[in-house]
Amino acid sequence: MNRLEKLLSQMSIHDKIGQLTQYNAALYTKTTAEITGPKAKLGLTDEDLAAAGSILNFASVQEMKDIQDKHLQNDPNKIPMSFMMDVIHGYRTIFPIPLGLGCSFDPEIAEECSRVAAREASASGVQVTFTPMVDYVRDARWGRVMETCGEEPLVTGALAAAQIRGFHGDGMEKPGNLATCVKHYAGYGGAEAGRDYNLVEVSERELREYYLPGYKACLDAGAPMVMPSFNSLNGIPSIANPMLMQKILRQEWGFDGVVISDYNAIGELLPHGVAADQKEAAKLAFENTCDIEMCSSGYFHHLEALIKEGIFTEEQLDAAVMRVLKFKDQLGLFDDPYHGADAELAERLFLCDEHRAVVKKAAAESAVLLKNDGLLPLSEKLNKVAVIGPFADNHGINGFWSCNGKDEDTTTVLQGVTALLGDDKVVTAVGCGNLWDDNDTAGFAEAVAAAKEADAVILCLGEPQNYSGEGNCRTDLRLPGMQEELAKQVIAANPNTAVVLFNGRPLDVSLLHKIAPAILTMWFPGTEGGNAAAELIFGKRNPCGKLTMSFPHNVGQCPIYYNHPNTGRPRWRSQPDHRGYASDYIDCATLPLYSFGYGLSYSNFQYSDLILSSREMTMDSNIQVSVKVRNDSDRAGKEVVQLYMRDLVGSVVRPVQQLIAFEKISLEPGEEKTVSFTVTEEMLRFYDMEGRHISEKGDFTLMIGHADHFVLTEKFQLV
Ligand code: NOJ
Repeated sequence: MNRLEKLLSQMSIHDKIGQLTQYNAALYTKTTAEITGPKAKLGLTDEDLAAAGSILNFASVQEMKDIQDKHLQNDPNKIPMSFMMDVIHGYRTIFPIPLGLGCSFDPEIAEECSRVAAREASASGVQVTFTPMVDYVRDARWGRVMETCGEEPLVTGALAAAQIRGFHGDGMEKPGNLATCVKHYAGYGGAEAGRDYNLVEVSERELREYYLPGYKACLDAGAPMVMPSFNSLNGIPSIANPMLMQKILRQEWGFDGVVISDYNAIGELLPHGVAADQKEAAKLAFENTCDIEMCSSGYFHHLEALIKEGIFTEEQLDAAVMRVLKFKDQLGLFDDPYHGADAELAERLFLCDEHRAVVKKAAAESAVLLKNDGLLPLSEKLNKVAVIGPFADNHGINGFWSCNGKDEDTTTVLQGVTALLGDDKVVTAVGCGNLWDDNDTAGFAEAVAAAKEADAVILCLGEPQNYSGEGNCRTDLRLPGMQEELAKQVIAANPNTAVVLFNGRPLDVSLLHKIAPAILTMWFPGTEGGNAAAELIFGKRNPCGKLTMSFPHNVGQCPIYYNHPNTGRPRWRSQPDHRGYASDYIDCATLPLYSFGYGLSYSNFQYSDLILSSREMTMDSNIQVSVKVRNDSDRAGKEVVQLYMRDLVGSVVRPVQQLIAFEKISLEPGEEKTVSFTVTEEMLRFYDMEGRHISEKGDFTLMIGHADHFVLTEKFQLV
């Protein structure tokens, strides 16, 4: 019998169920008024709380230690609690929201950012983070697109694996590192009509092809924990869904780590209407192998009875508890229940120069230059620059889920520009400060005057931070408040106006696209956002981000995504916008305004010589593909070389394009590089009518460029 088996053999059923329960630290401390509220509502006794095995969120290292100490004094088995938190895009030093970071197409940057977050969070007492979030998305109305990497499973998986490497570092048992939890399994991003928590209806084939690869990539990268999603999938809430939980996760993928429910997701089986009461909810979740219940108390109240009634065996309970004990052992908690938490170290790490440098680079490389008629970069020699708009001097640019990040720590665009040019060259005006007011034009006259006085304008527009994130969905993707009107007046007053956007989702920027000579989206860039924006605008850095989620022309196009299956009546690129009886709209283009993979640079990259090692691939041979990329400009720059393929004829309808590989390269002025990819038979596979993951013989096209514009194409056959 090993150490953990011995421990398990000494535990009572009540102790065991405790290990399967997680509550918020607020229930344990006397620091919040909540103490008698939720605890009583959950029907919990102090004894129950003392037995709980893990904690969600807490205020400080001291609070974490106090809760742990008290628990260890009382717990008959001396099993430490584990402490978990949503450390999503930074703990205190904040890097771009995941949707932004995805646009860097840069796993190295994602890993570095996760290291920053891991160091700060670990020193602050966090042991487990509920990240990466790898929900596949197509609908910009959904507020949680900001937490995702967008509409491409390959990029999502690559970036998530990098995050996991960054968080786990040289071992999750060591201080400075965190364990990760992949979420939200599965299909949450398919919420109907882009409304959070809404039902998801997708076929199993679509699920396996688009939605599941992200989660699987995380398990392959070693994520030890999985969080099922809130939504129902094809009629069954994820946590009670035998196909997702038992068949795919546990059996097909062989996952033997810990499954933790989302917040009160077991309790929510009642309003979902699949459980009549808490006991039935607990039964459904437990039989679908959910190990830890977060913030509801179905297990505490009913699991013991369910065992006594013979619905479950004690062996089943033991298996779940053993998964939790092994996880705690992996975290090294039996040796150090504080996991090296050190408040002084945390204070030294927060916002330190090294961490700021990492997040600044990440913010710059996540930004996407959407339009540039030649206005950008601006010259530092200009006499006067106006920084205008509600986001000109707005510190609210961390974005949703920014953990302990503080708005006041961020640098604004105004600060960044002033640091580069000096006070006397910069004028500013807010224009319309109240984004919730559709009549706020009080600042327009001042903004127009500032624009007229300047040689160039940087117009900073966007969405408030809480317009995206959990529960924050929209039916209108345009800039809120009077911002479009402000843009019209400012651009009329000074045509040398570059728009800088702060946004948690792809927006409808059709109007700006028509009237502004340049548009740069910073997403929500985090602590160093303003400095990064200023450096991009004045050419100290060269934009290199590429969209991982399409910007629609307007909300009516949603859901919209680049890798869509074809129709029998496609509208081809070469045809006019509407030709009748084609799959298009009479009042809007079919394609998005800016597609997946798109993003401009100040450099000019030329592609040539797309060469295939063979035009025939067999089931067990690969094809080497190479392409030359030349920087035909006098600026060093980075380019994301993207390789797409199309399966021309399949037994089920195939996507019109599908990214199969990418590589980000740096090129000095005039430099040329050859980029090589290996195309394997596995990359050509899809799920057929019988659900088999196969490739089929026939013709394929390879394309280089981005989803809206392929510069080179070649063909090959699978024989
Ligand atoms: C609810 C969210 O859906 C999930 O992403 C998060 O990890 C948990 N709450 C815990 O905060």
